[in-house]
Amino acid sequence: MHLVTPAAHRRAAFLELAADYEAAGELRYASALQDFDAYVRRLEAGRRGDGLPHGWIPEATFWLASKGALLGCARLRLGLSPQLEYEGGHIGYDVRPSMRRRGHGTTLLRLVLIEARALAIERVRITCDDDNFGSIRVIERNGGVLADMGVSEASGKPLRQYWIG
Ligand SMILES: CC(C)(COP(=O)(O)OP(=O)(O)OC[C@H]1O[C@@H](n2cnc3c(N)ncnc32)[C@H](O)[C@@H]1OP(=O)(O)O)[C@@H](O)C(=O)NCCC(=O)NCCS
Repeated sequence: MHLVTPAAHRRAAFLELAADYEAAGELRYASALQDFDAYVRRLEAGRRGDGLPHGWIPEATFWLASKGALLGCARLRLGLSPQLEYEGGHIGYDVRPSMRRRGHGTTLLRLVLIEARALAIERVRITCDDDNFGSIRVIERNGGVLADMGVSEASGKPLRQYWIG
């Protein structure tokens, strides 16, 4: 199991993953199903920081790959704004619905933390809703230490704010 970066030649594997989310009613990759090439171009621009609104931080996207299939996605922000430090953090991740609860979320975060260290991000902020039990386990199994609690602006729920490292 390893990370790959978005690329046009991964179209078939990514569309299969995106369809998995859609079948489960999660529409987070619906735009990729509509126009995969444009989706990859947006991710590449986001990595370079091209055309980002003022105050937005460039982010690198990684896909978790195994035997030609893609199992999940992660985004590594290359810095923190005050807003991201409060909610969003350095890393966001998700595992395709049909492959959850098999340890892939834990593996995905472990591999992205290695990428963060390679980019000299030594201390990693991660946040998650207080009722996201899977994500809490993923973070804490990767060494996350609960530092603060807030309130999610996205969901209105209590928000856990962790540091790793
Ligand atoms: C959160 C998420 C990435 C977890 O991925 P995953 O592949 O299921 O994670 P793992 O299999 O590594 O699970 C880690 C631990 O959490 C537990 N867990 C996973 N989902 C759980 C759930 N819904 N409720 C309770 N525990 C859960 C697992 O059983 C495992 O615990 P164990 O080691 O004691 O068995 C996945 O549920 C997901 O993509 N959710 C939607 C997106 C999301 O919430 N992203 C995080 C935003 S902060």
